[in-house]
Amino acid sequence: MKIVAIGGSPRMKGNSTSLMRIAVDAAVGRGATAEFFYPRKMKIAGCLACDGCKRTPDSVCVQKDDMHAVFAAVKACDVLLLASPVYFYGLSSWVKEVVDRFYALIPPAAPDGQGEPEPRVAPGKGFYLITTQQEASPFYGYQILSTVAYGLTWIGMECRGELIGTSLDGPKDWERRDDLQQAARRLIAV
Ligand SMILES: Cc1cc2nc3c(=O)[nH]c(=O)nc-3n(C[C@H](O)[C@H](O)[C@H](O)COP(=O)(O)O)c2cc1C
Repeated sequence: MKIVAIGGSPRMKGNSTSLMRIAVDAAVGRGATAEFFYPRKMKIAGCLACDGCKRTPDSVCVQKDDMHAVFAAVKACDVLLLASPVYFYGLSSWVKEVVDRFYALIPPAAPDGQGEPEPRVAPGKGFYLITTQQEASPFYGYQILSTVAYGLTWIGMECRGELIGTSLDGPKDWERRDDLQQAARRLIAV
């Protein structure tokens, strides 16, 4: 099983990235393979909404940046793991830009009478979400989960699980949270 893990925090050793790595390392220990992406270290712009990716069934995103490596990895993976700190009750901008660019993985509508368009992402893939936040109520993490879960159905991905980490503020707060570390180890089904 191939995992693509996207760490959406600018803190490379912070809460969401560390829990993501624990989850993936445990899955790798159970036989999975993994590829990591850190948007903070990449050149990834926001979606231009130019619809260049919709011109023909084979069109790709017109922007020439590192997102093309993510596109290729997502097409080849079995599961996607997104990890994000909660920023202003939403995803961090680092991971939101990646999710917005998934727009290029949605095929253009087929001409009238020609049925469903050929999907750009093979069906049957799943995704997991990890969020971390300072506040104690998990409501905001679940709110983000509901938008991501609905959004990724556009590219045929179904939600397989989530870890909503609350009461985490400083970058090392995850270290004293055995509950979250254990939940991370169990998160990904291999
Ligand atoms: C720009 C910014 C916005 C934030 N907004 C929220 C928020 O809306 N709700 C919340 O509970 N925590 C908020 N936080 C706190 C982070 O979500 C929290 O520290 C999180 O655990 C950081 O994860 P990380 O270590 O993976 O970066 C915010 C932090 C920053 C820097």
